[in-house]
Amino acid sequence: MDQYPSIDYRLLVDNLTTAILLIDSDLNIFYLNSSCEALFDISLLRAAGQPVMNILHAPNDGFNTLDALTNSLKTGQAYTRREATINVNFKDIHVDYSVSQINTDKPYHPLLLIELNPIDRMLKISKEESLTQQHQITRQLIRGVAHEIKNPLGGIRGATQLLARSLNDPQYTEFTDIIISEVDRLRNLADTMLGSRQLPSYELVNVHEPLERVRSLVANQTKKKIKIIRDYDLSLPEVKADRDQLIQVMLNICVNAVQAITENKEFFVDHQPELILRTRIQRLVTINGVLHRSTIRIDIEDNGIGIPQEVVESIFYPLVTTRAKGTGLGLSIAQNIMHQHNGMIECQSIPKKTVFSLYLPWESNHVT
Ligand SMILES: Nc1ncnc2c1ncn2[C@@H]1O[C@H](COP(=O)(O)OP(=O)(O)O)[C@@H](O)[C@H]1O
Ligand SMILES: [Mg+2]
Repeated sequence: MDQYPSIDYRLLVDNLTTAILLIDSDLNIFYLNSSCEALFDISLLRAAGQPVMNILHAPNDGFNTLDALTNSLKTGQAYTRREATINVNFKDIHVDYSVSQINTDKPYHPLLLIELNPIDRMLKISKEESLTQQHQITRQLIRGVAHEIKNPLGGIRGATQLLARSLNDPQYTEFTDIIISEVDRLRNLADTMLGSRQLPSYELVNVHEPLERVRSLVANQTKKKIKIIRDYDLSLPEVKADRDQLIQVMLNICVNAVQAITENKEFFVDHQPELILRTRIQRLVTINGVLHRSTIRIDIEDNGIGIPQEVVESIFYPLVTTRAKGTGLGLSIAQNIMHQHNGMIECQSIPKKTVFSLYLPWESNHVT
């Protein structure tokens, strides 16, 4: 063995990205490496000697971990679990893990070795990828439908005008006026469905500029009935973006927030309606499968009624709306614009706290 350099195995294990957990024959924690400490947010010092089930705690996972570990100790049989759920600090995380037995001649034998790989980042990437794909397909579908609606409208409008002129009877022009105004409404809708035809023009933008524009628009519109709180990090760098499109994104989101507040006045019995505009630097954000070192985060938060959990996932799809007069296009257009900027919008909502976060990468070199 002399030809091999001597290796500090403890150092090696501590530098692995795989989380390593060793448990003794009483199912108590014997050792965990640094990655495992980080995964469970616990130090070896605190964890050693504790029952392993204290940290492999999984109330939302139908699997009986305790039985499986006991069985593995008894029979020596290894096993692997994929996409297992474990609960760390009241938060579910997903891991792949393998359990195998190590026989040692030390008094605490046999030991069980558990190797864990957190997969949340991977899960999130594949979920995001499929969402983006679905989103693009629906966008194309919507544009196709919008074109088909729009094409005959010009003809209908022209023919109706001719008809109105030849009828020359006020009794009938009332009907032709209805046709024309409904045709105009449909054309506006089709135009919104088609989205902006202009190519984005990118320039260096300080995001506070469009944000302030939107703030003053909203403040004027709501006549100060909604308190608007600004919480800006003024040291943010400028980003390459299309200023007008950013305004549209922020406006679409703010308008939704204002509507959620004004259309549900009865919800505000014990608190005042508020809109918070917040800007921050957010490090290490994965957008569309790319991990960005640093992004600008713009939060638009309201303390309205909120969005039910089962709806949150679908609100970015076109035509998804809960409002009688809604088109369901506002968020889909906003998300589309953010994708064109290599960014994204995320939403988290509970009653009295709905936050739409816009992420814009600003560093050109990203980590992969
Ligand atoms: N701040 C918010 N609070 C509550 N619900 C919201 C909020 N923002 C968006 N929503 C929900 O998302 C849906 C989709 O929004 P959007 O795409 O802008 O379409 P629309 O405004 O035409 O309904 C809305 O109908 C509403 O149910
Ligand atoms: Mg809207």
